[in-house]
Amino acid sequence: MQKVALVTGSYRGLGLETVAQLAGLDFHAIISGRRSEVGRVAADSLAKKGLNVTYLDLDVTSDSSVAKARDYIEGQFGKLDVLVNNAGIHYDLGNPSTSPNWKVVQEAIDINFLGAWRVAVSLLGLLEKSEAGRIVNVSSGAGSLNDVTPGTPAYSTSKAAMNMLTIQLAAALKSSSIKVNAVCPGWVRTEMGGPQAPRSVEEGAKGIVWAATLDSDGPSGGFFRDGNAIAW
Ligand SMILES: NC(=O)c1ccc[n+]([C@@H]2O[C@H](COP(=O)([O-])OP(=O)(O)OC[C@H]3O[C@@H](n4cnc5c(N)ncnc54)[C@H](OP(=O)(O)O)[C@@H]3O)[C@@H](O)[C@H]2O)c1
Repeated sequence: MQKVALVTGSYRGLGLETVAQLAGLDFHAIISGRRSEVGRVAADSLAKKGLNVTYLDLDVTSDSSVAKARDYIEGQFGKLDVLVNNAGIHYDLGNPSTSPNWKVVQEAIDINFLGAWRVAVSLLGLLEKSEAGRIVNVSSGAGSLNDVTPGTPAYSTSKAAMNMLTIQLAAALKSSSIKVNAVCPGWVRTEMGGPQAPRSVEEGAKGIVWAATLDSDGPSGGFFRDGNAIAW
């Protein structure tokens, strides 16, 4: 039975490359996002390369959008093997923690943290129908409490919260076959990372795909970069 993967916020950047790599490993990989036209173009371009890819509308901040996406996946595939919580926003350099832009803070929390939580909870029933469900939270070293470079308060706080969510979900699902891990892709050349970043999307997505395809004896509840554990 073909494996199915959903990547949130994936019509560009690390998400799109993660979809391409998973489809290259024989997954049916679902590009998702909040702009249908852009998403369909992205899906078509991968499908033209022979990859098994479709597009699905999914705004991670919307309960109804997430519920619709779950119903679609249930109807089409009856299960989900991999969820990559990739949608992310606001690397807020220059946003002072002492007088923050609250809109930026709210959106970072809503999308980077609550969005990942909402999607994971909604899709849990489908992940439980997989023999080996995997949740990958695309986090960041900027959310590490051990390796702090102050300066991106909304983003770092949202990713630190995502890291705690990873630990909470992994513990709650310990007796199931579902593994939950957080992955930092490194500093990557994307719209968020900028052109000066040292890593390509191919390099960044590799560690995400590693966590999405862990064997049954692989870790759960960890924080990784390039397949190596890093400090929370
Ligand atoms: N690039 C880096 O150096 C780096 C480093 C560490 C971690 N990360 C993480 O990697 C992930 C991917 O980032 P990226 O670098 O590829 O950035 P990106 O190119 O800006 O991609 C972010 C994606 O998230 C989507 N998104 C935003 N809000 C959404 C929502 N409410 N619902 C669904 N999708 C939404 C965006 O779509 P819209 O066009 O709709 O906004 C976009 O497709 C993020 O979680 C980021 O924090 C990146």
